[in-house]
Amino acid sequence: MPGGVNSPVRSMGAIGRDHPVFIERGEGCELVDVDGNRYVDYVCSWGPLILGHGHRRVVAAIEETLEAGTSFGAPTEGEIELAHEVCERFASVQMVRMTSSGTEAAMSAVRLARAATGRDVVLKFAGAYHGHSDGLLADAGSGIATGGTPGTPGVTDAQAAQTIVVGWNDRSAVAEAVERHRPAAILAEGIPANMGVVPPAEGFLGFLRDQTSDSGALLVLDEVITGFRVSRGGAQQLEDVSADLTVMGKVLGGGLPAAAYGGPHELMELISPAGDVYQAGTLSGNPLAMAAGLATLRELTPDAYERLDSLTARLAEGLRKAADDRPIEVSSVCGLVTPFFNDRAVEDFGAAQACDVDRYGAFCRALLERGVYPPPSQFEAWFVSLAHDEDAIDRTVEMARESFEVAFEDGR
Ligand SMILES: Cc1ncc(COP(=O)(O)O)c(C=O)c1O
Repeated sequence: MPGGVNSPVRSMGAIGRDHPVFIERGEGCELVDVDGNRYVDYVCSWGPLILGHGHRRVVAAIEETLEAGTSFGAPTEGEIELAHEVCERFASVQMVRMTSSGTEAAMSAVRLARAATGRDVVLKFAGAYHGHSDGLLADAGSGIATGGTPGTPGVTDAQAAQTIVVGWNDRSAVAEAVERHRPAAILAEGIPANMGVVPPAEGFLGFLRDQTSDSGALLVLDEVITGFRVSRGGAQQLEDVSADLTVMGKVLGGGLPAAAYGGPHELMELISPAGDVYQAGTLSGNPLAMAAGLATLRELTPDAYERLDSLTARLAEGLRKAADDRPIEVSSVCGLVTPFFNDRAVEDFGAAQACDVDRYGAFCRALLERGVYPPPSQFEAWFVSLAHDEDAIDRTVEMARESFEVAFEDGR
């Protein structure tokens, strides 16, 4: 396997380790590695496991579904039930198409936006990640930022030319680009979390809504991370903004491969076979993934969000205190936290890139030695789950206090 892994950030190269931790199993908020070491897990499979590892009702739903078969390539009731759950949560979504990955969902939403508007160019933001389709890798966050590559070889100039990248929270750059390029869509993470967590400045999503409505473009919100996590209806609900198309994933599949894109009837009916915008998938709407997703969403009551919010705030506040007067800015929204190794608030990709990634690496190595498993990159969010409890968070904060000391002593 290239780099020894099946997805780049897992390698832990960015935090100065020459090999990743190999996992044997997960239990609640903990990971157990093949050597028997236990860690409080803040990756949680990069977001899907909002209920933690091995939640008994999710496991039971998968087991029950498994009895009937793993995949049919024909419709099943679970797809309808999950689609209903999605539409109920997202006011802007009336129809849904399931896919197997967020990459496919984002790529397909862009195709639909182009088909609906008859335009080619897509506006995206520096530091945002929308999966690894050719056109969306420009200036991307997540593993692209972690690897320090501005883009990737293998993407043609023609494809790259169809993506215009602007700075997050930069209203004048957006307005200028919209006027100049007349894009098919503005594609944005509802609350960017792939350069670390960088919430929109007040009113910025509303501004994007106005820019798209006024110019005949579509607002495509990528809620693969934020959907079902930051609130019941994702970032759109928090920010009171309605997307034309919404991209979902991660929590939607409850730890099995499922993602989706959705929007109003008039747009979604352009998708094949209702319309002629083609998009398909052998395992799309897989019954096991639908069962895991449904069982997960059904646990996400208003009380559950209140609890997740309070656990997240406890972690964020604990990290702030543990950092003391060191140059650390902790950013957080419900279910997501990033300790930025920077002495000023991070509002865009430039500020995220200015972080001291070597010290972040030292901090992560020290945490791993102390039984905490952080995302091994400064450009990723820490994922909090409902399986975390006050004890686990407080232990984490204590270990973070020691790890900050290590990172700022011999640090590099
Ligand atoms: C916001 C966002 N969009 C899209 C994707 C791609 O999803 P997947 O990894 O399932 O292809 C990710 C993955 O991390 C993501 O964070």
